[in-house]
Amino acid sequence: GGPVRVAVLGAGVVGSQVVRLLLEHGNELAARIGAPLELAGVAVRRPNRHPDVPAALLTTDAAALVARPDVDVVVEVIGGLEPTRELLLTALRRGAAVVTANKALLAEHGPELYEAADAAGADLYFEAAVAGAIPLIRPIRESLAGDRISRIMGIVNGTTNFILSAMSQQGVGYGEALAEATRLGYAEADPTADVDGFDAAAKAAILASIGFHTRVGADQVHREGIAGVTAADIRAAREIGCVVKLLAICERVSVGGGEAVSARVHPVMLPVAHPLAGVDGAYNAVYVEAESAGRLMFYGPGAGGAPTASAVLGDLVAVARNRLVGGRGPGESAHADLPVQPMGEV
Ligand code: HSE
Repeated sequence: GGPVRVAVLGAGVVGSQVVRLLLEHGNELAARIGAPLELAGVAVRRPNRHPDVPAALLTTDAAALVARPDVDVVVEVIGGLEPTRELLLTALRRGAAVVTANKALLAEHGPELYEAADAAGADLYFEAAVAGAIPLIRPIRESLAGDRISRIMGIVNGTTNFILSAMSQQGVGYGEALAEATRLGYAEADPTADVDGFDAAAKAAILASIGFHTRVGADQVHREGIAGVTAADIRAAREIGCVVKLLAICERVSVGGGEAVSARVHPVMLPVAHPLAGVDGAYNAVYVEAESAGRLMFYGPGAGGAPTASAVLGDLVAVARNRLVGGRGPGESAHADLPVQPMGEV
């Protein structure tokens, strides 16, 4: 068959790594896919800031790039809600596969995107949207598709985990730790998304939606960040053998005669013996408890350019393979719509 043509939207912390790896390992990836992989274009805001990307590939016109009929896969790593939502809908509606790392967009507009993908028979993959390099989305959507998940609980924000780890282990101040997380490329463009728990809440919404086959929006996730956590809190926790971690907790709950899903993000005091207590720095870890599988733990680098690019490229290989056999991966729109339980009523 012909080549699989890939457009990349964004060349920031993650996008620049995606482009670099595509250029460096393109042949190896093509061999795994079974077809040549061709970079069709890279959409950026300021072309003169990307000396590592071949100039002929750079464009400022993302809308034209996603509309190009020869583009088979759109990789989205620009973030933000608009115009990203519109760009991805354009791609999906004409049947192109989309690979995105955009957790905020999925948490906010997931249903619209899933429906557009299902209507066009297009792939929508988003392994990089939650927990960076850690295989988590596809295990939940595919490997555990035959099971019944009861709880998903974990550390899903690298920035806040980095800050809490630094405060607790090196006695570093909050501001200094946040500056370092930003320098290392973990923090969001606006780090309040990390420290106030919005980023973790978006990830919780995605995990709850795919784990419980329903639709949970970010606004349905009870959210408390780490801004109120002080050095004194961390010391007090240590004195009773605990560490402070920001956890996302999504679980199946019984209400009346039926079931619902509850999702929340807040700081938790964890006994040091708890497996999540030893997860430090920008690492993430997620527990999944399922009826038949029992307890699974997923652990690894949860943020940063190269780890996140690894997840993006894995999705790219998967959607390219699907395309070659004329099939697609899991869709999301045909859901049972388990209700979401408001916090305070659990
Ligand atoms: N800001 C995010 C984090 C990046 O710190 O985890 C990865 O989604």
